Amino acid sequence: MARTSHDTWWKNAVFYQIYPLSFCDSDGDSYGDLRGVISKLDYLAGALGVDALWLSPFYQSPMKDWGYDISDHTDVDPLMGDLDTARELIEEAHSKGLRVIVDYVINHTSDQHPWFLESRSSRTSPKRDWYVWRDGRDGNPPNNWVSVFSGPSWSYDQESRQWYRHTYLRDQPDLNWRNPEVVEAMFDVARFWLDMGVDGFRVDAAHQMMKDPQERDNPPAPPDYPRPYKNMGEYDDFIHLYDFSHPDVHEIHRRLRAVTDAYERDVLTVGEIHIFDLPEWASYYGEDFDQLNMPFNFHLMTAEWNVPSLRAVIEAVLWNVPVGGWTNWTLGNHDEVRLATRLPDGHERLAALLLLTIRGTPFLYYGDELGMRQVAVDRDQARDPWGHNVSWLSRDGARTPMHWSDEPNAGFGPAGATTWLPIAPDYIKLNVETELGNADSTLNLYRRLIALRKAHPALRVGSFLSHPSSSGDVFAYRRESDSETMTVVLNFAEEERTIDVGRGELVFSTADPERQDRIGGAVALGPREGVVIEHV
Ligand code: GLC
Repeated sequence: MARTSHDTWWKNAVFYQIYPLSFCDSDGDSYGDLRGVISKLDYLAGALGVDALWLSPFYQSPMKDWGYDISDHTDVDPLMGDLDTARELIEEAHSKGLRVIVDYVINHTSDQHPWFLESRSSRTSPKRDWYVWRDGRDGNPPNNWVSVFSGPSWSYDQESRQWYRHTYLRDQPDLNWRNPEVVEAMFDVARFWLDMGVDGFRVDAAHQMMKDPQERDNPPAPPDYPRPYKNMGEYDDFIHLYDFSHPDVHEIHRRLRAVTDAYERDVLTVGEIHIFDLPEWASYYGEDFDQLNMPFNFHLMTAEWNVPSLRAVIEAVLWNVPVGGWTNWTLGNHDEVRLATRLPDGHERLAALLLLTIRGTPFLYYGDELGMRQVAVDRDQARDPWGHNVSWLSRDGARTPMHWSDEPNAGFGPAGATTWLPIAPDYIKLNVETELGNADSTLNLYRRLIALRKAHPALRVGSFLSHPSSSGDVFAYRRESDSETMTVVLNFAEEERTIDVGRGELVFSTADPERQDRIGGAVALGPREGVVIEHV
């Protein structure tokens, strides 16, 4: 059933991603937990004012990939709590007006999952075909596919003398989605969490589970082959023609959509589609809007941080979203280098304004509202399996504990508790408590922006059109709803700029919370200032 109404909750929401291991540690074991998240719901719903949470995995896991290797989909890992706490978290969040979506990791399980243990036990196991087992080629893997985390995506099982496929770690065997029993078992997992009350899913690696049935070798990439935006090590040595996004993947998404649409309430699926060819990316909506509600939109992260590049990316995405579809935007997550570190100095405020005023649902990553930066994590403190051998691949630096206060462990856990990843030294300045008390802080900028978005339908669901006054270093765009017209102007220059936007009231400035001028036509912006004008 296509739902295209603008009232839909997730079109109007600001999302906030929580990486539970790093958010708040309630019991002092050094890892964040669900009870910790519960204790911060007032911050999220109240002080910050977001509408929805995305929780990264908290399910039972050997923690080889920090929860993205699941050994029991319907239980909570003891590091993070138990099922009752998960239920309480969902209920408490709802009672404060927050929706909750959870990670749904469908491409693979942990190698410790009972399904895989059974599958691995013998070639004749009834679950053998639940995973992808193959004979090798003359003692070598069945083909040349490499794992996203480097190295072959096949590992050999000595006992049963076959290879199994893993798109990620060898501890994360790929499920065989061509087996109908797997499909049903995984849909039951989705129903379990929907029955508990979650409002939807962030579908992990949602383009990965269907690959070429003939399992052909990927061609090697020529040296000048374009890379999306980040260096992926050995994975970049190939053109990935055959090892993701086989057309059959769309049938799985249609069936998943039927599962979520069977619920009375409006359930959201937002899928991690790491595809940068826009028409292919957009195909995940489905021709009749019968697949994902939204493919996750990472395109902003591929843009260079300048007006022509950002404008081109934003327009290209918006023009490629099928009419009647809805997109989302993000500038950070647990797999990327922290936003504040990627940006040129002094551009954080422009980034926040852009993210919260383009047409589409914004997803914020925990800590970005404080300006948290990437932390250089020493090798002996490293946790991420990706990057153990190539440190620049490591994602640890973007997953360090949230800064709540200027207490010794940044208020992440009880006094004296250690933390699973190191805390950035700048937590003394960049923390919730301190920033709440400083009108000019990054946190207060985010709070003001979220409130502005909430107050103005034009900023949430209005149309988007780049303004003709845009130039090489000033980006202006108009947002227009039935009742309002607003213009957003971002000055990327290191000096003042004045541009013509028409008459209106200036209702927001990144530079000065007090600024409120009447605009007669031309608006003057300070260096790196962004403003919002309401046309009355
Ligand atoms: C997704 C997750 C990432 C994880 C991988 C394997 O890309 O975002 O964190 O390592 O899937 O599950």
